[in-house]
Parts: sequence; structure tokens; C-alpha cells
Amino acid sequence: MTETAKLIIGEKTLEMPIVVGSEGERGIDISKLRQETGAITLDPGYGNTGSCQSAITYIDGDKGILRYRGIPIEEFDHRKHPNFIEVMWLLIFGRLPSEQELAEMRDALTGQAHLHEAMKHHFEGYPVNAPPMAIMSAMLNTLGCFHPEIIDPKDEVQFKAAIANLVSKIRTIAAFTYRRVRGLPYIYADPKRRYCANLLHMMFSMPHEEYHVDDEIEDALNLIFILHADHEQNCSTSTVRMVGSSQANLFASCAAGVCALWGPLHGGANVEVLEMLERIKAGGLSAEQYVEMAKQKDARLMGFGHRVYKNYDPRAKVLKGVCDRVLPKLNVKDPLIDIARRLEELALKDSYFIDRKLYPNVDFYSGIILRAMGIPTDMFTVMFAIGRLPGWIAHWWEQRQDKSSRIARPRQIYTGPVGKHYVPMSKR
Ligand code: CMC
Repeated sequence: MTETAKLIIGEKTLEMPIVVGSEGERGIDISKLRQETGAITLDPGYGNTGSCQSAITYIDGDKGILRYRGIPIEEFDHRKHPNFIEVMWLLIFGRLPSEQELAEMRDALTGQAHLHEAMKHHFEGYPVNAPPMAIMSAMLNTLGCFHPEIIDPKDEVQFKAAIANLVSKIRTIAAFTYRRVRGLPYIYADPKRRYCANLLHMMFSMPHEEYHVDDEIEDALNLIFILHADHEQNCSTSTVRMVGSSQANLFASCAAGVCALWGPLHGGANVEVLEMLERIKAGGLSAEQYVEMAKQKDARLMGFGHRVYKNYDPRAKVLKGVCDRVLPKLNVKDPLIDIARRLEELALKDSYFIDRKLYPNVDFYSGIILRAMGIPTDMFTVMFAIGRLPGWIAHWWEQRQDKSSRIARPRQIYTGPVGKHYVPMSKR
């Protein structure tokens, strides 16, 4: 028998079904609430609102659990196996690919690595100091204009072509953005290289000087992308679903996701972490002083805290391991990393952070590792976007397959003036 919840409003009692997820999560189905009672729910920031049912990713924020299609993310921390493309397949299609499926997807990605040559001049139109996330969002929409036959996939064949197009070309767009902003010649993809190695090649090779891709760096980037690949109904993914709910095409929906991710409280936090560390160093502040400022609300300890995790972010735990493993091998001596480690040490034993359950999140370590790899700060959130793209695609497709999905259209409680009338200009 379905469990129900009862709501009493005035004289009326409404009985609502409780929907139970596969991990035992419970949600009260309020879809009849307004129709039956005239009332709506009010939940700023949606902390208590489930916008959909989804089979892609499970998070238990209190226990610090994150699973992709049922698999704990810690199981992806194997060097070179599985790789980002395998995880992408898992997220989008709900199961791990066979050897042949993975090979076909790899070939499709290789085949799609080049942008239409006519797209190059779009990069030229941006000022050299244009924010890379602005370029990336615009370029995803531009990409759609060059491939109109797949932007709104109707079947699995078109969908796979769209995946290969987006996932391969977002990497080329990122690399071209990096080169354009620095006035460097564009480097084309090399079909012999793997996904992450190819990105590093397009970013860092010179026409007559190939960039040597260090195995440690390639592995770390692969793991960073895997750990960012999905995070259920976060701000950017909800944006992709919101835009997609109007039947907007996949490319446009993902472009909107890039804009949402850009914000400093979301994907932009990895940039903020580095800028915070730089400010601390430049201002001659100690980690102790900065932690005190955060407690007094004069600053925010960027890279700490999360809406869902009230425990250590499991992604941060894996990345901390990468930091400990990779940084000494790369022989990186960076005063900012020392500051970050000290901040973490202090915050984790301070009652302000303990009481509010503020732990390091994924952005705290990803910025440090990306910096050690030689990726400049202005490209950090772009890296996050490349990693998150499979999640956006998976959610867009899941929503499209769901015959019961409707256009997303929240309500509001109006608090503005009432009973006003227009006053002609001469009487104001
Ligand atoms: N430094 C200092 N105090 C903090 C921090 C922080 N980083 N985060 C939260 N608090 C305090 C906040 O001031 C409030 O204190 P009080 O109870 O005294 O008013 C309390 O903790 C609850 O915070 P909140 O702002 O109500 O929490 P939220 O769930 O609305 O916000 C958050 C979550 C991630 C936006 C926030 O923790 C934050 O701004 N963190 C820094 C930015 C950051 O690292 N963002 C990346 C998130 S992970 C990657 C992603 O999903 O994109």
C-alpha cells in the first residue's frame, strides 16, 4: 500500500502519496496541492523540493555518498581504468559500455574533434580578455548552428551523433579559447591521442614543438573529469533541465548550463579558491587570520561548504588523494598550496565550521591540482564544464524520454503593491 502524508489547511485535509526512491528517499507528491487547496509550497533555493525522478546519480549528503548509476565514485579512482568516456557512457546510457560500444564511441569522438573551419572566425571576434565561460557558452550555441540535423535528436542514432559532436568539440572549443585569449596559433586535435591527452596537446603544443603529456597529469585530469561528470540536480543541471523542458534543443540547453556553472557559488568556486589564496598571500595574511575573517562573515572560505554535503564531499576526498600523490611527483613547490593545506587544517578543527558542517568541497582541491598541471585560473571553470557535460546530456535525454515531463514553471508568492493605477506623466 502506498504510504501517504496528510496536510490540513483550514477545513481541508489533503492526502498525498509518498514516492519512495530506490535508496529509500521519500518525497511527498504535492502535484494536486494547488488544485485541491489553492495553496502552493514556498521553498527558496529549492532545498526541499524534488523537481523530478531520476535514475542517474545518487547522493547522500549526510553520509558523504555519491554514486553514478549505483556505482560509488571511489571505484573510479583506478588509474586509467575506467576512463572519462566510459563514465560518460555509463551516465548517459545507464550501464557500462561493451568493448565494441566504447570503441565505436571513441572513433566517433575522434571523427568529431575538428570544428567547422568557419567557426574559427567566431573566436577572433572576442576581445582578448573575454571570459572563457562566455566564449564557451556562445560557442556551444554556435556549434548547434553548424549541425542542425542533430541538435534536437529524435532517436538513439542521432543522439549518439550529438553526444560525439558535443563531447569532442567542447574540448576543441576550450583549447581554442585558451589559445585565442593568449594570441597563440590554434593547434588541431591529434587522432592518435586519448581524450584528455588531446585536450592538453591542443592547449599546450606549439606548431613546431609538441607538448609532452605527462602520464600523471593525464590521469589526474581524467579523474577530475570523472568526479565532475554528474551531481544530480545541481544549479547547472537543473538549468539544463529547465531550458530543455521547453523543448529547447540539446546544444542550447547545454549552453545555458555553462552560464549557470559560471557563477562563483557553483563551478566558478574553483577560480574563487585560487583568487582567495592569492589574496591571502598578496595581503600578507596568515591562514589563521583568514579563517577568523570567514567566521566573522568578512570573507567566505571558498571551496568549503555545500548545500547537500553535510559531511566530507566524497569527490574532495578522492582529489585530496590525487593532490598528495601527484603534486610531489610533479615536484611542485607552491606557497598557495601550503596556504590551502593550512586553511583546511584550521577549518576542520574549528567549531564554526564543525557546527555548520562545512567541509572542503570538490572545488577546494580541483583548483590546486589544475594549477599544478599548468592550467591557468581563467580556464578552471571551463575544465569543470567539460567534465560536467556528460551529466547535462544524460539529464536532458532522461527528461526527453519521460513522457510525463512538462514545461518547468514554478509559482511564486506575490509581495508587490496592490490596487495601484497608472498615473500619467504630467501628474507624477
Ligand atoms: N565560509 C564561511 N561560512 C560559510 C561558508 C563558507 N564557505 N559556507 C557556508 N557558510 C556559513 C553561512 O554563512 C551560514 O552561516 P550562519 O548559519 O551563521 O548564517 C551557514 O554556513 C550556512 O550557509 P548557507 O550559505 O546557508 O549554505 P547554502 O547551502 O545556502 O550554500 C554554498 C552552500 C556552497 C553556496 C556555501 O557553502 C558557499 O558559499 N561556499 C563557498 C562557495 C563554494 O565553495 N561553492 C562550491 C560548491 S561545490 C561545487 C558545486 O556544486 O558547484
